[in-house]
Formats: sequence, structure tokens, C-alpha cells
Amino acid sequence: MRKKLIDISWDAFRALPVAEKVPYLNPVGGIPYHTLFAQQFDRPLLERLGTLANSIRTIAKTRSGMDFLRQLISHKRAMLYFSQPSSRTFLSFYSACQILGMPTGEVRDTATSSEFKGESCEDSVRTFSSYFDLIVMRSPEKGLAEHMSWVLSNAERPIPVINAGSGQDQHPTQALLDIYTLQRSFERAGGLRDRTIVMVGDLARGRTVRSLAQLLANFPNIRQIFVAPPVFQIGTDIQEILRAKGVDFELTGDFHSVLPQADAVYMTRIQDEWDDETHPSRAVDISNFKFGLRELALIKPQTVILHPLPRRDEISTDIDRDPRAMYWRQMRNGMWIRAALIALTFGCENRILEFHRANV
Ligand code: NCD
Repeated sequence: MRKKLIDISWDAFRALPVAEKVPYLNPVGGIPYHTLFAQQFDRPLLERLGTLANSIRTIAKTRSGMDFLRQLISHKRAMLYFSQPSSRTFLSFYSACQILGMPTGEVRDTATSSEFKGESCEDSVRTFSSYFDLIVMRSPEKGLAEHMSWVLSNAERPIPVINAGSGQDQHPTQALLDIYTLQRSFERAGGLRDRTIVMVGDLARGRTVRSLAQLLANFPNIRQIFVAPPVFQIGTDIQEILRAKGVDFELTGDFHSVLPQADAVYMTRIQDEWDDETHPSRAVDISNFKFGLRELALIKPQTVILHPLPRRDEISTDIDRDPRAMYWRQMRNGMWIRAALIALTFGCENRILEFHRANV
């Protein structure tokens, strides 16, 4: 039977393990209505999104293609609600909406919204649902997008929510673009399988790796190596999920010894905006967790280097021009995969694939 968010209380929904939340979030045909967690995406869905993103990317190369794309969702509007700093994620969602002809509104600072006057976030979001048809939201609070998805499913005018970063917990659409970048990087060499992916940096507080590790678990024979000083190592919750799925993974502090095995190196910055007594970044020596010319000499000729950006100095600008430095292309991929996700959410997949078949 179809599971609906209007049939379950918020407290009961909140208490479910994520795997049991998925049927409520992907109610029809396994397609996300609300996109909150990486666990909502299995391998067929990831392949399907990649195919759709490829079609959109190809169609968008011509004026007639852009004209076609721009009328697809021109009758719907999106609210970009970002109460935490963002450049890339915000701009790529904004561009993705533009590609699909979807007008956008934005709140980027709660000081400029009525929350400042004491309105609850719940009421603010309900207000958005009076004017908009989609909410893309980034928040410093872990469960807020999830709560809002429940609120909005129960509102007079239900609309979908896409999580664009929830505290230190998850960043599912970043993981989608990371997977899309890996799929593209390996597409002429057997695809995303039988690879070693090395993830480096602040894995304790970085939400991108927490989502990516779970998506990678969908692909065959992917070995995951987490490289960090002990205080920044990947959470035990993610380790348990990987163990339960039988994923081959390893934790290490020795970056240089694992570099020669890597097919992809995913660098991340230290997330010092979350510093507290248990994670005082300045007290941790991170000098051995940086990628520069010395590290470039240790990787294979086909290994790709990724970073969700923004970077500090964990990737040296010296390597930006190396063909293996994939982070700029990775960033642009975010626009295509987010356009694909929105198109899928609003039921435009078949029209896009048909146009692609007929015209390209
Ligand atoms: C990441 C984020 O916000 O989690 N940035 C992004 O969305 N590209 C990574 C980061 O801030 O370090």
C-alpha cells in the first residue's frame, strides 16, 4: 500500500529509521517527491538521473533545445530558502530552475523574512507554499527540511521540499552531482564499479561525504577509504550503514600510502564553523591532508580529483590545470543533475528523453 505523510504523525515519522522513511518520501514508482536523504536513491535511480542530466545537457546546447526546456515547468515557481551561506548550491539550483523555465523567489537571510518578527519557521514555510510549488532549502539544523516536508505534505497546498544541505548531516544533491561526475569520469572505462574512492578531510562534520559514502554503496565493488586525523574521522553511524551493506571500507590517517590505489580522490575542507570543545580545528595538525604537486605525482594517470568546494588550501592551485583536476567540471555538473532532479520531480522525464531522441 502507498505510504503517505498525511497518514502518519510527525512524531511517529521522525522516530522511524531513515530506511523506513523512504517509502513515504518516494511514494510513486520509487521517485522522490521530497528529496531529503541520500538513502532515497538506489542504483537504477542514479543511472536514470544521470541519463536525464546527459539529455538536458545536450539539449541545452542549442537555442531550439533551450526554448524547449524553458517551457517545461514555466507554470511552476520555486522558492530557494537558504538560511545558511551558499554560493554554488544556491546558484546551481537557481540556474537549474532557469533552464527549466521555473521562476524563482529567494530568502537568503532570515533577518529579511518575518522569522525575524518571531514567526516560526513552520509558518514561514507554509507561507511559501501559498506562492510557490517547490521549496529548496538549506539550513544549519539537521532535521528542519525533514520536518518541513512533513508540514508541507499536510498543508492545504502540498508542495515538495529538496534538501540543499541539512546541518552536519546530509547534502543529498551534492552527492548526486558527485556520483554524476564519477559516472562521467569513468564512462569510457567500464563505468562506476570496481574502483577505490579516497575521501579526505573533515569527514566528521562534512555533510557531503556522509551522503556520498551512502550513494557509493549502491555501486558494485567500490572500496571506500576515509582519510582524516582521528578527531575528524567519518562517523560511526555511517560506518555501521556501510558495514550492514557489506561495503569494503577502511579508515586511515596515512594519506600518502593510499594515494597510489585511488581512482578518485575527494578532498574536503575543515568545517571550522562547527568548532566546539570536542572539535577544535586549530589544535589539529592537518598539514598531511592536503593535495599539491607532491600528491599529484603519487596518483595514477586516470585518477580524478574532486572537491565539493569551497576550498581553502587543501588543494593547491598548482594542480588546477592538470586534466585530472575535476572540481570545476564537477561544479557545473551540479546544475545539470539538479535540473534533472527537478524535472523528474515534476514528471518531465519522458518529454525530455523524447525530445533528445528526436532532435539530437
Ligand atoms: C559544501 C557544503 O555546503 O556542505 N559546499 C557545497 O555545497 N558545495 C561543502 C563545504 O561547505 O565545505
